[in-house]
Amino acid sequence: MLDKIKQLQDEIEALGASTKEEVEELRIKYISKKGLVSQLFADFKNVPGEQKKAVGQAINVLKNKALDKINELKESFENAEQGAGGTDLSRPGEPMRLGTRHPLAIVRNEIVEIFARLGFTVAEGPEIEDDWHVFSALNFPPEHPARDMQDTFFIQRDPDVLLRTHTSSVQARVMEKTQPPIRAIFPGRVFRNEAISARAHCIFHQIEGLYVDENVSFADLKQTLLYFSRELFGENTEIRLRPSYFPFTEPSAEMDVSCSICGGKGCNVCKYTGWLEILGCGMVDPNVLDLCGIDSKKYTGFAFGMGIERITMLKYGIKDIRHFFENDVRFLRQFEGTY
Ligand code: DAH
Repeated sequence: MLDKIKQLQDEIEALGASTKEEVEELRIKYISKKGLVSQLFADFKNVPGEQKKAVGQAINVLKNKALDKINELKESFENAEQGAGGTDLSRPGEPMRLGTRHPLAIVRNEIVEIFARLGFTVAEGPEIEDDWHVFSALNFPPEHPARDMQDTFFIQRDPDVLLRTHTSSVQARVMEKTQPPIRAIFPGRVFRNEAISARAHCIFHQIEGLYVDENVSFADLKQTLLYFSRELFGENTEIRLRPSYFPFTEPSAEMDVSCSICGGKGCNVCKYTGWLEILGCGMVDPNVLDLCGIDSKKYTGFAFGMGIERITMLKYGIKDIRHFFENDVRFLRQFEGTY
C-alpha cells in the first residue's frame, strides 16, 4: 500500500497541463470523489491494524500534495488569462475625489487678490496678543467696554495676554516696524467671548486694511472701497458711508454696499433697505500714528476692517455662520471647483 502511495505521489508531482480543461480532467482523475486519491481512503479499511498509522499519515500527505498541485496548475492558468486581457492596463483609473477649498478661504483669496491689484501686500500678526497691540496702541481708553471679560478672552494668569478681538492689532505691529509708505492688508482669525448662534461665533475671520503715506485723504479711502466693492460684488454695486465711531479712526464710518441679491430694490436679506453693511473704516487717528512711532504731522492714513464670514454669507446666501465650522462635507462640496 505504501508503495502504491509513493508511486501516486511521484506521478502527481510530475503532473503538468497545457489547458484549463486538462487541469479539470486531472482534478477529476485524482481528487474528485471517485478519483485515485479518494480510492485510497476506501482501500484504507483493508490495511492491517499495525500499518494503519503509517498508511493513514501517508494518504493524508498525498491528498494535500494533490490538492496543492491541482490548485497551482489552476492558478497558473488564471494568472495567464488576466495578463492576456483580464486586466485592461489602458483603462482610465478610478477618479479620486479631491478636497475642496473652504468657502472662507475662497473669499479671503478673492479679497486679497483685489487689493493686490491696487498694490496692497499681505502681512500677518499673532492670534495671542497683548493689551498694547489690541487696545492701547489703538487709542482705546482704559475703561472701554471691549476690554471687558464679557467681550475678550483673557489668560487667567496674566491679564496682559489675550486672544485678539480684531485684526486691527496687526496695524499697530506693522506701523511700529515700518515707516510709510505702508499699503497692506492683514487677514486673520479673531476671537470674542460671544454666545454661538446662527449670526455670531466666538471664532471668526477678518481682513484689515491700512494705507499710510503723505497726503492720504478720505477721497482715497472712498475710491479704494468703491473699487473693491465693485470687484467683489459686481460692477453695478454702489456704496454708502455712514458716520460711525471707532477709537482708532477719526472720522470713522461704516460702509454699506447696495444689496447684490435684489439690486437695491429691497428683499429679506437686506431687510428691505436695499443696503448691506460690510465694513468699518476711517482715517487713522493721529494719536494712533504717534503711539506707533509715525509722525502724524507728516503722514495721514486710512484703515478699514471687515468680517470674512459675513461677506461670504452675503455672497453665497448662507444663512447660518455655524456651517463654516462644522466641516459637513455636504456643505463644503457645494464649493467644489471654486477657487
Ligand atoms: N476693528 C473693527 C472691528 O473689529 C473693524 C474696523 C473698523 C477696522 C474701522 C478698521 C476701521 O480698521 O478703521 O469691528
